[in-house]
Amino acid sequence: MIFYFTGTGNSLMAAKAIAEDDETMVNMADALRDGNTAFELKDGERMGFIFPVYFYTVSDVVIDFIEAMKIGRPAYVFSVITCGGSIRGAGAYLERVLA
Ligand SMILES: Cc1cc2nc3c(=O)[nH]c(=O)nc-3n(C[C@H](O)[C@H](O)[C@H](O)COP(=O)(O)O)c2cc1C
Repeated sequence: MIFYFTGTGNSLMAAKAIAEDDETMVNMADALRDGNTAFELKDGERMGFIFPVYFYTVSDVVIDFIEAMKIGRPAYVFSVITCGGSIRGAGAYLERVLA
């Protein structure tokens, strides 16, 4: 299952390129707005977060979504953070939020 956030489309493009054929893609901003934050993973399913870096960190939308979400334990977690030049410590920060 892929959770994405996009402003201008780059992260959506990355998410579409990475998603497997039948993989569910969830827009984190829409899900947060609509209160759809509970998800069920299939056995062995991976969980990915794809979004842009904003000011070298993780944007509030992504943090709020992760804090609100209810989900089982995924087989594997990954993230792709799109950027203009550098994400600096955003990946490490995401790891702490997820933990
Ligand atoms: C408010 C804002 C802050 C940004 N901060 C950074 C940054 O700190 N480092 C960087 O390399 N790119 C930064 N960017 C560029 C975006 O991360 C980059 O263009 C990204 O691919 C946009 O993804 P999207 O098209 O999915 O919104 C910023 C863009 C915006 C709009």
